[in-house]
Amino acid sequence: MKRNLSNVKTLVQFITESQKNVLHATGELSRILNDIAIAAKIINREVNKAGLLDMLGIEGGMNVQDEEVKKLDVFANEQFISALSSGGQCCVIASEENDDIIPIKKSDYSKANYVVLIDPLDGSSNIDVNVAIGSIFSIYKRVTNEGAGQVIDCIQPGDRQVAAGYIIYGSSTMLVYTTGDGVNGFTLDPSIGEFCLSHPNMKIPEDGFIYSVNEGNYVEFPREIQEYIYYCKTPDFATGRPYSARYIGSMVADFHRNLIKGGIFMYPATSKHPLGKLRLMYECNPLAFLIEQAGGKAIDGEGRILSIQPDSIHQRTGIIIGSKNMVEKVEAFIQLNLGKNVYRIK
Ligand code: AHG
Ligand code: MN
Ligand code: MN
Repeated sequence: MKRNLSNVKTLVQFITESQKNVLHATGELSRILNDIAIAAKIINREVNKAGLLDMLGIEGGMNVQDEEVKKLDVFANEQFISALSSGGQCCVIASEENDDIIPIKKSDYSKANYVVLIDPLDGSSNIDVNVAIGSIFSIYKRVTNEGAGQVIDCIQPGDRQVAAGYIIYGSSTMLVYTTGDGVNGFTLDPSIGEFCLSHPNMKIPEDGFIYSVNEGNYVEFPREIQEYIYYCKTPDFATGRPYSARYIGSMVADFHRNLIKGGIFMYPATSKHPLGKLRLMYECNPLAFLIEQAGGKAIDGEGRILSIQPDSIHQRTGIIIGSKNMVEKVEAFIQLNLGKNVYRIK
């Protein structure tokens, strides 16, 4: 179909229209989402020329224009921080890349109501090998009353998120987000430089045929995860097993594929990393919010990811996330192993 303005809905149009349906909406959240989209476009531009890094200059050195060449994750972090600090709606940012929170004080006396947590570049080990990477964001309302935001604003349970989403820099670039009213996906049309609604009201199939896990850690997994992996590999005509194994190593990319096709992603705690590897606030909570909005499930092995009360911004957790029936099958294996003398997911 030939593109014309009547069959394209841009992200900006979508956000503005959605805002109209929310009683007492102030436009602050819309502004944050738009700022994130702008940062994403700038990061996308740099991601697309990552392979030229050697030609453009060595990291830490200077490029041909005498500019400092930065690591892409540092660059992405700076873009998000600068976009979110200039808008005036955000009182504090927490980033996987910064040890401490980044409090933002407004220059006037009005207050900024929102808190944003980011994983600016997810799957950074894949940058050099031209494999899909992403950015993840999570947005809350502040709990303190005024001034710059504090740690307590950032460590809220995931079920208090007001919005969350990710950008995937893949064979095309997409922004997928939720404000708690379903999940919508937008594809960047490079010819007009706009994210356009391409995947309205995304739902994950209840069953899937793909499991995603770093099986290199198999001997360190809890017994129930080992048993579930064995189940995935065991042929069974009725349930379509064996399932296919797919593991990219960028959580956003594995998540995105499973969201569209159905599947399960697991990064359980291991005997070596008993608290898990992935970050609750920057990776697990936002993706758990999205998956629940899309009809799927996300657990840490004991309960819902979104119900965890965090106690630090960089907290890690085990995670099992994806198609509802697949996650529930893992829960059944957990139940079978309860009380046995094997180490637990947490
Ligand atoms: P990040 O690049 O933000 O540090 O995240 C990497 C994460 C996640 O994206 C991915 O699923 C996982 O680490 C891969 O870990 P393993 O290499 O241990 O499988
Ligand atoms: Mn990450
Ligand atoms: Mn990262």
